[in-house]
Amino acid sequence: MLFDPAKRDGLSEKLIRSHCWNNYGGLVKALNAGKQKLAGFLEDQNLPPYRYNDLKRERLMRTGSVILHELSFDNLGGTGQPGAAFRKMLTEAFGSMETWEKEFKRMDFGLGGGSGWVVLGYNLRSGLLQNYWQWNHLHAPSATLPIRVMARYEHSYHMDHGAAAPAYVDAFFRNIHWATVLARLDKALNARAL
Ligand SMILES: [Fe+2]
Repeated sequence: MLFDPAKRDGLSEKLIRSHCWNNYGGLVKALNAGKQKLAGFLEDQNLPPYRYNDLKRERLMRTGSVILHELSFDNLGGTGQPGAAFRKMLTEAFGSMETWEKEFKRMDFGLGGGSGWVVLGYNLRSGLLQNYWQWNHLHAPSATLPIRVMARYEHSYHMDHGAAAPAYVDAFFRNIHWATVLARLDKALNARAL
């Protein structure tokens, strides 16, 4: 974890540690166990191929979940105030920083009791910066790099906010580490320029 979980505004240390150690920690263990199982399955000539792909599908899902969790945790730890450079890019893409935030929050509120990831992503093909909803760990648009990721599963907020997901979203915004987000966007822009 790149930040002190005891010093977040509106996200308790108990919630952050539980999410990190229990949920994310369990995922990492399951991902590693799946890797060992795959190695054994590959040598088993009697195993139907579809069974191998069942495990590959599970591995794909867990890989996506581990990465999205890491991106979501890592873009926390700041004060929620973006610098001029990022504000300028959001203004170019969305008309204004406020419009971007309004859409991001509207998408989140639209989930109601649902779940998934709400993501600001940069598409390497189109060059567009867009908000999108990943309803599970697999469904990112092709060629889109996650720039700013917010977990929106119940275990991400219920301990602190109960069913009041909008309060969690507001707290998440107050804790964004914008330098991390900007560094991701810089990498994406450089990758597209190659
Ligand atoms: Fe989670």
